[in-house]
Amino acid sequence: HRKYVAFKPVAKTDRRWPDKVIEKAPTWCAVDLRDGNQALVKPMTVAQKQRMFDLLVKLGFKEIEIGFPAASQPDFDFCRKLIEENRIPEDVKIQVLTQARPELIERTYEALAGARKAIVHVYNSTSTVQREQVFGLDRDGIREIAVSGAKVVRDMAARHPETEWTFQYSPESFTGTELDFAAEVIDAVSDVWRPDQGQPMIINLPATVEMATPNVFADQIEWICDNIKRREHISISVHTHNDRGCAVAAAELAVMAGADRVEGTLMGNGERTGNMDLVTMAMNLYSQGIDPTLDLSGMAAISEVVEACTEISTHPRHPYAGELVFTAFSGSHQDAIRKCLARRKEGEAWNVAYLPIDPFDVGRRYEEVVRINSQSGKGGVAYVLERDYNISLPRWLQIEFSKVVQREAETNGGEIDSLTIHRLFEDRYLKV
Ligand code: KIV
Ligand code: ZN
Repeated sequence: HRKYVAFKPVAKTDRRWPDKVIEKAPTWCAVDLRDGNQALVKPMTVAQKQRMFDLLVKLGFKEIEIGFPAASQPDFDFCRKLIEENRIPEDVKIQVLTQARPELIERTYEALAGARKAIVHVYNSTSTVQREQVFGLDRDGIREIAVSGAKVVRDMAARHPETEWTFQYSPESFTGTELDFAAEVIDAVSDVWRPDQGQPMIINLPATVEMATPNVFADQIEWICDNIKRREHISISVHTHNDRGCAVAAAELAVMAGADRVEGTLMGNGERTGNMDLVTMAMNLYSQGIDPTLDLSGMAAISEVVEACTEISTHPRHPYAGELVFTAFSGSHQDAIRKCLARRKEGEAWNVAYLPIDPFDVGRRYEEVVRINSQSGKGGVAYVLERDYNISLPRWLQIEFSKVVQREAETNGGEIDSLTIHRLFEDRYLKV
């Protein structure tokens, strides 16, 4: 993907932290079937869940959270279906969420019986507001919930050695938790799971509610990375929500601050304002020349499946995926893009004004999306006649005819399709 060196990075000398860049894609975990699903007006049907799961596998996700089986019978049944019908590729780990309560953890292991590889994701709330107002517990009480849950997870896993287990712990509401307390709980859990003795362990740090600017979140992640025991044996994951509209930025900065793994959903579906959008973050990496390790080349089909499963339509301005994101109506933009494209040589780095990436890389072509309204200029109108009718106009005629089209567009108030442009041209210049 090295064609994207075109967006010249800001010179190192102009940067405050020149070594803070993302050098490789994090490990991704898609939580569409859990966090995404739990926020839907109408939860996904079994068929929709299966379609979403198959899409995530096809795109290249190796870790997929499929539900909260101990809390939901449909999630339990879906988990059993995936395992019993052998629908999970060998290199994919399914992940399931559970609260740190013994009876729920036991039920979770029932749901996972026979899985080849699985991530058991245990959480409890650790923030001051949850401690004081929801649970009425002090720090010791909250830490004890995490530790006793961790012990049940460890003991249940030992009884099922046929599965390759990864343990994941989330101090839920991490963004509202004092850092020293978060580290204390994380250390207490890792004292039980002992990742230094070979047990794969993930610590997932959620911005359950996005409460601060992305740099503050990144500072929190960096602090945890520097202050927990056994850091080198633990994968640090982030799970950001979008309450302030910055979930992608927060996850990107968190990776720069040391996170190894990112959880999110396609198009950002999820609780309230949503989860971190995997499509945007992966494509942001791609646009900087980093292999996102996901195949997002068929964006229209991806969007179609997400829409069908979530029953939420993709916004036309959704980064990289929306219908309008590679469209220019304005004459000067159309003109600049056409000139850049005409000069571009095969294999050259991408360097086209107004287009952050080559639309072709997500399965679209700029040519398809040149559209005309009253704001378009001669270049766009001439382009449409040439593309669709093989009519090429001299410059003086481009200027004259674009005024005709513009007048028509002003009268009709909207977009002028290619057929109408041709009819106007015929009426004016071809009819005798
Ligand atoms: O947002 C959140 O805190 C969660 C946890 C369960 C990880 O979804
Ligand atoms: Zn969440």
